[in-house]
Amino acid sequence: MNNFVFYNPTKLVFGRNTVEKIGEYLKKDKIKKVLLLAGGGSIKKNGVYEKVVRSLFEHSIEKVEVWGVRPNPVLSKVKEAIEIARKEKVDAILAVGGGSVIDSAKAVAAGTKYEGNVWDFYIGKIKVKEAIPLYTILTLSATGTEMNGNSVVTNEDTLEKYSFSSIHVYPKISIVDPEIQFTLPANQTVNGAVDAISHVMEYYFDGTSNTQLADRIDESIVKTLVETTEKLLKDPHDYEARANFALSTTLALNGISGLGHSGGDWSSHAIEHALSALNPDVAHGAGLAVVFPAWLTYVKDLISDKLAKFGVEVFGIEDGINALKEWYKKIGAPVNLRELGFEKNDIEKLTDIASKMAPMGRLKKLEREDIKKILEIAF
Ligand code: NZQ
Ligand code: ZN
Repeated sequence: MNNFVFYNPTKLVFGRNTVEKIGEYLKKDKIKKVLLLAGGGSIKKNGVYEKVVRSLFEHSIEKVEVWGVRPNPVLSKVKEAIEIARKEKVDAILAVGGGSVIDSAKAVAAGTKYEGNVWDFYIGKIKVKEAIPLYTILTLSATGTEMNGNSVVTNEDTLEKYSFSSIHVYPKISIVDPEIQFTLPANQTVNGAVDAISHVMEYYFDGTSNTQLADRIDESIVKTLVETTEKLLKDPHDYEARANFALSTTLALNGISGLGHSGGDWSSHAIEHALSALNPDVAHGAGLAVVFPAWLTYVKDLISDKLAKFGVEVFGIEDGINALKEWYKKIGAPVNLRELGFEKNDIEKLTDIASKMAPMGRLKKLEREDIKKILEIAF
């Protein structure tokens, strides 16, 4: 087990009827005007927007709205929102949505305080030094962004989907009300499960030894996700399943699941980001369902004992890779690049995009040729 420092400044407000508390929390923090950032309109259909607006009104909090953050969010929308945040002199950003909205909001929170190009954070040209406060209402449990400092955005001009991490963009308060996720389409629940399982596995299989407690936490998170996903596919309104699912996805990437590890491997994530950069219709979770088992297959000899332990603990059989793939099939996740609409000659393009980050990975350092072989396995 490695040395570590664990610090997570986000106050997590979890459970039923918590959305309507947003105004009260903002008022306590002396916030007078927010930029409300949202996606394509799901929050209007399911009543979340109305609850937020009422709560802001009741606490005399002014708002300016920016809509249209798309899945696999793009840099141009972030820049548009930064301009508005500056012009309107807002005190805080209020993100209401899934990972794409919250990730974009983190960039807006940091970008509003930075005179240069916000993309500089993503290419590592400069570190975030300050940000205006960020408050979030999560509507889709998957990414863990509600309780971490990561932001992932695509630069649509260069087809680069990159991330930055900063302590300054952890949400100050994050509201997770599982009930507002009753309206999620089944495929988004599936994508969320795959994403969170992948977050746990990026740590679990990073090659660190003697992480018994983290291993057990990780196995519990994955087991809970398997169990609750199956329940939710049968009954999307099962509150207890939604709540346990939501808590699992938050813990999968808020620092807890990787305690004592060497920071995780993250190659599968980097390769997946190439998929959704080249084709923005590929959801992050769907891409991971294809890439992660392929990566595991490529590195399996380095982690054979751990793979068997994973398989037995989670699925009751030793062949961990096959068990995972079979379960992905069962819940309707894609299992190869063809199902995602890619053709054989896309492998070269995907390799080019992903290799900009090479060498990558902790368990095994991947060079261009390795990435290409993983994509071939995934095909
Ligand atoms: O845009 P709206 O209309 O709101 O609809 C969204 C969107 O179409 C819909 N949705 C969200 N909540 C809903 C709902 N529909 C009905 N009812 C609800 N309650 O779901 C669709 C997908 O939303 P999106 O935010 O794109 O999904 P997700 O939360 O999976 O976020 C994915 C993004 O997060 C990044 C991914 O790369 C991807 O860009 N990630 C962020 C991470 C982080 N910040 O730590 C880590 C992850 O590894 C990941 O890379
Ligand atoms: Zn992910």
